[in-house]
Amino acid sequence: MIIGVLKETQKGDKRVAITPKIAKQLIQNGFEVRVQEDAGSNSSYKNSDYSKAGASIRSKEDLFKNANILIRINPFDNKELEKLKKGQIIIAQLFHKSHPNDIKIISQRGATSFSMDAMPRISRAQDMDVLSSQNNLAGYKAVIKGAYEMTKIFPLMMTAAGTISPARVLVYGVGVAGLQAIATAKRLGAIVEATDIRTETKEQAESLGAKFIMVDNNGEESEGGYAKVASEDYARRQKEAVNTSLFKADLVITTAMVPGRTSPVLITEEQVKQMQNGAVIIDLAAAQGGNCELSVMNKTIIEHGVKIIGTTIAPESVSTNASDMYAKNTYNYLVHLTEGNQFKFDLEDQITDETLIVYNGTIRQNGKIS
Ligand code: NAI
Repeated sequence: MIIGVLKETQKGDKRVAITPKIAKQLIQNGFEVRVQEDAGSNSSYKNSDYSKAGASIRSKEDLFKNANILIRINPFDNKELEKLKKGQIIIAQLFHKSHPNDIKIISQRGATSFSMDAMPRISRAQDMDVLSSQNNLAGYKAVIKGAYEMTKIFPLMMTAAGTISPARVLVYGVGVAGLQAIATAKRLGAIVEATDIRTETKEQAESLGAKFIMVDNNGEESEGGYAKVASEDYARRQKEAVNTSLFKADLVITTAMVPGRTSPVLITEEQVKQMQNGAVIIDLAAAQGGNCELSVMNKTIIEHGVKIIGTTIAPESVSTNASDMYAKNTYNYLVHLTEGNQFKFDLEDQITDETLIVYNGTIRQNGKIS
């Protein structure tokens, strides 16, 4: 079977789905690997690195025409989807719930699609979970970005010229990104506080040295380990509990998301007005609507003296590490889905069942929008 690795086309995304190291492993497993020219050049992988690994460098047209499996990180655009052939398999983050039209086209073309972002959050899927591997890096990068944008340093510094008190960092959402943000800010010497709708995250935040801001919660705000949409009453209680810390914070990192929904607004304009002049908000939920009412995706704005950076969970500027981790996740997933170099399509298996969105033109339950 021929695997075609496509270059990312989404603006600003410098990652590549398969690295030379993983290409070599796939070839050892019996696949032929073809890589679109310059697919890895933004994440430090040259065409010659892929050639040395045994892959061949091809045009995009060649891949669409000849590959049995097309792999990319971001969704395909409509023109690309129209080129799919019957029986061709695509593996990408399709975000199918927000792209129903893409799913329709894949189905009309008689193709098969697996969506990496639909990976079930179960222990045995951890090494295939791209949302986790990428969010982890995004949490790290958010702090570094914040440090760069702030007009203060992170650690306590006692010098002959006076004492500098440590920066105060507040993290909303203690999931994968939030935990890494806490750990990174703490390592840099900040005073870190965090809050989450899921009370079980208190222990995790505290184990990394953050003070957890508990919001009264009768347990009705989460289900099966995941956040539900917060009630208005919860949102009001959250503001009461967090505002004192928010108004003192130098850096605020927001990562709060609810699977399959737009992100909750946790910081309103009224709250921004009361924040410190010069404070920075890094809103990692901006692509899903944003946790701050004023965030604009891919933009840095200054409102009421606060710098608000609307960014994405995609760790765009650590593309080498992000690609390495994404590629390893994809390799583990391919190993899970195949035997030798052939797909098993074991529909009884939860991982296959939940990630297989269109199977030979048929939209499966998970791909349907209700
Ligand atoms: P996420 O990216 O969906 O959300 C980030 C955080 O925001 C979550 O902790 C969520 O509770 C919080 N949040 C949502 N609404 C909020 C609100 N109104 N106020 C405050 N906080 C709010 O979460 P992520 O990182 O995907 O992790 C969710 C859960 O999944 C965690 O328990 C994590 O340990 C688990 N997980 C399990 C995996 C596995 O077993 N394979 C892999 C990755 C995560």
